[in-house]
Order: sequence, then C-alpha cells, then structure tokens
Amino acid sequence: MKFNVLVSDDLAEEGIEILREKVMVDVQTGLSEDELVATIENYDALLVRSGTQVTERVIEAGKKLRFIGRAGAGVDNIDMKAATKRGIIVANAPEGNTLAATEHTMAMMLSLCRNTPQANASMQAGEWKRSKFMGVELNEKTLGIVGLGRIGREIAKRASSFDMKIIGYDPFITTEKAAAMGIQSMSLEELFKQADIITVHTPLIKETRHIVNSQTIKTMKDGVRIINCARGGIIDEQALADAVKSGKVAGAAIDVFESEPPKDSPLLGVPGIITTPHLGASTVEAQKNVSISVAKQCLEVLNGGSAKYV
Ligand code: NAD
Ligand code: MLT
Repeated sequence: MKFNVLVSDDLAEEGIEILREKVMVDVQTGLSEDELVATIENYDALLVRSGTQVTERVIEAGKKLRFIGRAGAGVDNIDMKAATKRGIIVANAPEGNTLAATEHTMAMMLSLCRNTPQANASMQAGEWKRSKFMGVELNEKTLGIVGLGRIGREIAKRASSFDMKIIGYDPFITTEKAAAMGIQSMSLEELFKQADIITVHTPLIKETRHIVNSQTIKTMKDGVRIINCARGGIIDEQALADAVKSGKVAGAAIDVFESEPPKDSPLLGVPGIITTPHLGASTVEAQKNVSISVAKQCLEVLNGGSAKYV
C-alpha cells in the first residue's frame, strides 16, 4: 500500500475500516508532543480528535504529511498557520456531531434548571432533600444564543418546543435569516440584558475570547444561567465562578474548559456549576459520522482530490 496514515486519538472503527481497505493505518493514542514528533516522519496523513495538539513542531517533523484530518468541528488544536505554510490540507467534520452537541446542550440546560446532578449526588449519598433542589422551568424563559451556526440553530428549534422565547446574536447572520429560524436577533449587549439563560455556540477566536467576563456579567439579569458547550475560553472561568459564588449568576453548565483536562479550574467545586468532561460530541452516532467523514476526505486528498470541509 502506497500511503501511511497515523490515527493519534480514539476514532470510531467505521472510519478506520474504510482507511484500512486502501492505506496502511497505525493507531497510536496518548502520544506526547515529543513522541509524536519522533513518530510522524513516515506518515502521509494524521487523523486526530481534540486530544492531540498538532503543533508547529509536529507539522515541521511530518516531512511527508499531506493531510491532517480533525474528526470533529473545532480545529483549534491544529496549528493552521504552520500547516498552510507547509501546504498541508487540513479538513474537519463539522456536521457529524452537530446534533450530539445540540442534545448535550439541551441536557445541560434542563439539568441546570432542575439541579439534577446535584440531586443525584445527594441521593446517592443517602439523603432525601426535596426542598433543597427547587428548580425553574424553561417555559416562557428567554434563551439567548450567541452564535447562530449549525448548533445554535438546532438549539433554537428544540428550545422553541419548550415555549422559550429565542433571542440571538451572530454578526454574520442577517436579522431576516434569524427571524426565519424563529430567532429575534439583536446586539450582544442587548442579548446579555434580556436573557434568562445564555448559551454560547461560537468558535474560539480573538473576537469571542472571554465575551462572558466580569464586566459583561454585570450587565446581565440577576439570576441568569450560563452554558458553554462550545469552547473553553469563550467564558472567563474565574469571572464566572466568582459570579456564581456571589449569586449574581444562578448557575452554569460547562462542558469545555480553557485547559483540558482542567487541573485548577475555578469552575470545579462550586455548587451551582455543573460540569461534563467535553462530552458534547460523545455519542456513538456522532463519532461514527465524524470518523467516516475524515477517513473519506483523507483518501480523497491522498489520491490527488480535494477535501469537502477545508
Ligand atoms: P458553526 O461554524 O456552524 O457556527 C458558529 C457560528 O458562530 C457561526 O454562525 C458564526 O457566524 C458565529 N460567530 C463567529 N464569530 C462570532 C462572534 N464574534 N459572535 C457571535 N457569533 C459568532 O459551528 P458549530 O458547528 O455550530 O459549532 C459551534 C461551536 O461548538 C464550535 O466552537 C465547535 O468547536 C463547538 N463544538 C463543541 C462540541 C463539544 O464536544 N462540546 C461539539 C461540536 C462542536
Ligand atoms: C468538536 O469541535 O467537534 C468537539 O469539540 C468534539 C470533539 O471532537 O471532541
């Protein structure tokens, strides 16, 4: 077989099988940067999820690399500048896990409003404290969605069925397009003022880093609830933890962290904050979709074609 492909994170078997029919595949997960640098030289393609940091050193060491595939949406673990400089095609699989991330966000929203994780932990510890876990309903609450892309829109659909009022902010979506999706679009400042629950669904870029911070939290409703199932860093973790502790923010649900796994995150150990370990895309269906998508794009590129999601 002509080409060698390295898979350095856990990818669903369905995509790996597609690759094995045509190319040599090695699966080596959990490699350190040094180990990856020492290994990558003989590979024509590298496939990752979010665990592997594809740094400039890794890209420079990958003398034969022609393709880097990200089995998921965000490419923030790949040094795009270094890859572009070397002419390496980087492709992702942005559609395969949209519904998984959407459903996880809805699960986090409901859990946050009904204190489900805390009540479970309490019961498992032998308690029966019904009044401690009084919740609030989604019905007639205003949901502020920041980022009206694939996931933001699917959340709008599902939240509408709970009779929530949906407001949104996205500088790249027109008011008319948002309205057609049942979303009232407005400035970020206005959204922060009006929302009972805020959920962020943007990429982590310069413009979105810490858009929820100590200053913007002050402009929000007292008792607002905040969800981040997009990327760590969109929310200033210390500011959010302080605001939950002070009671300004009634609670937060967080799936993604500035550093993963989070070692000393201020979000851990705060009773009003519920967390999951970056599980947004972790469904059998989504992992199968993204694995197949990057595998197919990898074969296309190695055989001289182009990738679908570059
Ligand atoms: P998408 O590209 O379809 O949508 C992102 C939207 O953000 C776009 O509509 C874009 O116009 C908008 N945007 C860009 N800059 C903005 C700004 N400054 N303010 C407001 N909006 C802005 O992406 P998606 O597939 O919907 O994914 C959204 C996020 O969720 C990404 O960060 C992705 O990496 C993340 N994600 C996380 C998980 C998980 O496991 N938790 C799973 C899938 C995706
Ligand atoms: C993504 O960007 O697709 C998600 O973070 C999911 C993941 O691959 O972990």
